[in-house]
Amino acid sequence: MDSEEQVTRPGDIDLGEFRRIGREAIDAIADYHADLSRRSVLPNVTPEEVAARFVEELSGEGESAGAMLRDWRERVVPLLTAVGSPRHFAYVNGSGAMIGILAEALAACTNTNAGAWKLGPAATEIERQCLRWIADFIGYPTDTGGIMVSGGTMANFTALLTALRHVAPYDSTANGLQDTARSGRLLVYMADHEGHVSITRVADMLNLGRNAVRLVPSRPDFTMDVDELDRMLAADRARGDLPFCVVAQLGSVNIGAVDPMNAIADVCDKHGVWLHGDGACGLLAAGVPETRALFSGIERADSLSFDAHKLLGVPYDCGVVLVRHGERLRRAFSIAAPYLRGSLDTGDAELDYLEYGPEMSRPFRALKVWMVLRFFGAHGLRGIFSKNFSLARRLHSLVREHPDFEVLQEPILYLYCFRFVPNGLAEHSEAPEVQKQLDRLNQEIVDAIQRSGLALVMTTRIRGRVAIRLSICSHRTLEEDIDATFEAIARWGRLLFQSSYGDNKTSANMEEMQCSNEFCSLPTEASAT
Ligand SMILES: Cc1ncc(COP(=O)(O)O)c(C=O)c1O
Repeated sequence: MDSEEQVTRPGDIDLGEFRRIGREAIDAIADYHADLSRRSVLPNVTPEEVAARFVEELSGEGESAGAMLRDWRERVVPLLTAVGSPRHFAYVNGSGAMIGILAEALAACTNTNAGAWKLGPAATEIERQCLRWIADFIGYPTDTGGIMVSGGTMANFTALLTALRHVAPYDSTANGLQDTARSGRLLVYMADHEGHVSITRVADMLNLGRNAVRLVPSRPDFTMDVDELDRMLAADRARGDLPFCVVAQLGSVNIGAVDPMNAIADVCDKHGVWLHGDGACGLLAAGVPETRALFSGIERADSLSFDAHKLLGVPYDCGVVLVRHGERLRRAFSIAAPYLRGSLDTGDAELDYLEYGPEMSRPFRALKVWMVLRFFGAHGLRGIFSKNFSLARRLHSLVREHPDFEVLQEPILYLYCFRFVPNGLAEHSEAPEVQKQLDRLNQEIVDAIQRSGLALVMTTRIRGRVAIRLSICSHRTLEEDIDATFEAIARWGRLLFQSSYGDNKTSANMEEMQCSNEFCSLPTEASAT
């Protein structure tokens, strides 16, 4: 439509040019995805090399969109990790559903600020609709309150401040922790092994001090020992402290453990404490028939949270918090200023999300969640999640059947940890010096896989020992990705083990393995899209 008339406003791009460059941008996105499964997952570069590529001064006169798009293809993409790769198994990173890319562009189109109803009435309603859909999907009451925030940490922050305001035995709004009515330490509880560090960060943000997070011993299956929780709550209260919240894990970050919600809810009821379910990684599994039973009792939680940018694959960023009684959220965050609502009360009952969470200006995150949910549909999502769980089970079988590996857990959801313990060391593996050697070996295996570009795998610690950890979180991952990654782990394990015992043939094998790997070619400027 080059002929269309446009009065170009200062700073805008001529619409004809915009359409042309927009098509080029879409091509760049499509090319990126065309190559995604062959791309090296981690760019093999040093911080100095990356820094050296971004040193020019800001242009004085401005630059063309075309020049920036070229830069994106040639200079930026080759130095970005392929988070959407089917073999990206690090952290708990979502895969980035393609429909979400379009949603991000459309939300930017209207530059909607979803803080106030007046700034985007449909944005507010779409967010409400998404929250209802999500509640329905996981089996939580659909008349719940809630809000979208930047991620799991902020979702936990939102829930815990709401809990504190609600449970503290004095009105903490005006004076907070400095109120003279506060008679003891405000305390929060989570399981010692699998409780997530974001709760410690939240304790920091609330200025409770990190020691306010009380670690409850875990059972052998890594879930919270509820009898211990009961005992700790009673003892802390008897000492004059103020327990205000228990955080249950709903799909923990290392192994996907799900704390027993009904038993924890009974104890929370008994002690008058808020129950928050941190489901950043796993809450959506409550909507999948095969894993639903694990989540029995979530409907009794005062609040729940999950990351839409993890398993759901919504592009960064989006965390979701659901609060059973929405007015408690408002009580915690509502704040008045004449420029926020207008100077006189008009009696309007508009829902301004800036009154329900920590952010005032907020992006239109709900659009990408809305479009991802609609694109896949409830059945489609169940199918994808179920496939991810079955891939974790496949990895478990590979680990179990291989003589060089130690099983550390049964697969629960899509997060899976195991340990390389070569046959030769297995019988001595309890000895402290052997444990140390195994720790180093497991780390070296993961380092080698990362450098090869085949996959991005990480380590964690399970019961104090270094373990190899895969988060199989991507809708793109197939059995062949699991098999290739496991095979590489096993081969690197053998080679590194043999080399550490001075077998001089192995360094040649290691060279060969670096280069014969079909995925290991690293992107060059010429090959980059
Ligand atoms: C259980 C759990 N809670 C909270 C978080 C924090 O989420 P975010 O990184 O989105 O802030 C994570 C992140 O992996 C997590 O696994």
